[in-house]
Amino acid sequence: MYICVCKAVTDKQIKIAIDKGARTRRQLYQCTGAGDVCGKCTRHIKQMLDENLPSDPIMQAA
Ligand code: FES
Repeated sequence: MYICVCKAVTDKQIKIAIDKGARTRRQLYQCTGAGDVCGKCTRHIKQMLDENLPSDPIMQAA
């Protein structure tokens, strides 16, 4: 499914970028190009980040 229609970026591409270390919308933009044209996809990208970020063991120990 396309998340960013303007740049033809799919949910799979977003997930791969997160798996490879992208942790912010800016980093996802740098990896995929998503979000820099109309901006309509930014809320969905943020949602995908929230749902797919791995838990951080350092933050859990604090
Ligand atoms: S849909 Fe992503 S920038 Fe337009």
